[in-house]
Amino acid sequence: MNNRTRFLGGLRFTLTAIYTGLFTLLLLAVSILFRQYLAKNLDEQGYDDLTQSWAVVLANLHIVNDSGQSNYHPKWFFDTADPDENTISARIRSVYVIADENGKPVEYSSTYESLGFDPPAQVKKILKSNQAVWVNKRDPDGVPYVIRQGYVTSEDRSRRYFVAIGRSFADSAQLLNRFTWLCVGLIPLVILVGCLTGWIFAGRALNPVREIAAAAQRIGGSNLSLRIPSRGSGDELDYLVQTFNQMIERLEVSFSQIRQFSTDVSHELRTPITVVRGQLEVALFTANTAEQYREAIVNSLADIERLSQIVRALLLLSQAETGQVILQKQSIDLVELIDGLVDQFQIPAEGAEVTLKFEAAVYRCVGDFDRIQIERMLSNLLSNAIKFTPAGGSIRVVVGREGDLAEIRVEDTGHGIPEQHLPHIFDRFYRVRGANEQASPEKGLGLGLSFVAWIAKAHNGTIDVQSTPGKGTTFWIRLPLATAGPATGENVV
Ligand SMILES: Nc1ncnc2c1ncn2[C@@H]1O[C@H](COP(=O)(O)OP(=O)(O)O)[C@@H](O)[C@H]1O
Ligand SMILES: [Mg+2]
Repeated sequence: MNNRTRFLGGLRFTLTAIYTGLFTLLLLAVSILFRQYLAKNLDEQGYDDLTQSWAVVLANLHIVNDSGQSNYHPKWFFDTADPDENTISARIRSVYVIADENGKPVEYSSTYESLGFDPPAQVKKILKSNQAVWVNKRDPDGVPYVIRQGYVTSEDRSRRYFVAIGRSFADSAQLLNRFTWLCVGLIPLVILVGCLTGWIFAGRALNPVREIAAAAQRIGGSNLSLRIPSRGSGDELDYLVQTFNQMIERLEVSFSQIRQFSTDVSHELRTPITVVRGQLEVALFTANTAEQYREAIVNSLADIERLSQIVRALLLLSQAETGQVILQKQSIDLVELIDGLVDQFQIPAEGAEVTLKFEAAVYRCVGDFDRIQIERMLSNLLSNAIKFTPAGGSIRVVVGREGDLAEIRVEDTGHGIPEQHLPHIFDRFYRVRGANEQASPEKGLGLGLSFVAWIAKAHNGTIDVQSTPGKGTTFWIRLPLATAGPATGENVV
């Protein structure tokens, strides 16, 4: 039942049905039109023929009165020596009748007799009328004849004789009949062949769809690397395959990011937990004095603090990325805000022996921003800059405007970031291993720049980075000053 409905409602069936239906209609219409055209032409030819013959009759048939009395009789003036005229005469006289004014046939062919003579009333009517009269008759076998009736006036114009000539339409009728039967026999055959070809081609056209479906069924979370082979025909189905493959590619990227992320999280959490466990175990087995216990507890607390920091940051990030953090936007002057923030970082900068300077390219730069998030963004960038700039270096924070955009630039003269790491530094847990790591006194979580990137995006802004290893790094943040929609309390993720 299910299979049956699927067959009847399927695309292949629908395509074939529509195609066959249209094809049948077209074929029938053409056959009918052609048959009508043929019938009309055959008819016209027959009538033309009879009209011509009638002219010959008028020219060659005379009603004469040669014995002097009122002994009128028809007389043909065909030249019997001329074979052409003989043929014409024979043809005309194969179906004909000549009757006197009382309707009595005086000369006729046997064929006309078999068609039946015309009643005297009809004859009299025709003798009075001046129009050509056409009559259809059938012989006892049912063969159709067309008869042209009229009259011929005697030479002295005193009498009229009824004359009728006819022609068998048997050939035309037979031709039409044959054509009709040919159609009746051939059309179903042609439709059947058309239907079959339609079915085959529709199936072929839809094959890729089935392949796509089969491929899609094979693809799961564990084998997202599968792709549907493109057929290279550049048609709509190829486009579908392409789109589908692109979708799978995006899914694959997200999946691997998620997988990587879970691995990273477990890794990040495992280390402090192992450390805490070790410290506590050691204390349990070897500590004797209260002082030793105390030291173990203090150390463990520090590691637990790091653990909860990671968990807090992760929670915040996932809330941010799933749109649960709502920006509290208000009108803020970035020049003032960042100036204050840079002031706060003077102490850590002095501690790291780097100079930290603020420059404003504009007097004011007011827009709708979330104060806390902007501060968090700047804090992250500044602490990175201080962390990764060796003693004696300098950091510069510049705020400017570029049309409708606010531009914040954080430049340092630090270690820089090797080019191959640049595309990844905004990923969660991503840290550049090597020189930087040793240079930095404390190990970061690798989450700071993920926040920075999210905050810029949430404000509809962009973040760019440029870095030369050994020379320094510059982060550019561009934020639109005018916001569309309500100015505060708006969710922009
Ligand atoms: N100003 C900078 N100079 C050099 N490297 C940087 C700078 N800012 C960030 N990085 C690199 O990008 C990585 C990711 O930064 P971030 O997400 O803030 O993590 P974290 O600061 O916790 O290490 C850092 O580990 C560091 O290698
Ligand atoms: Mg950082």
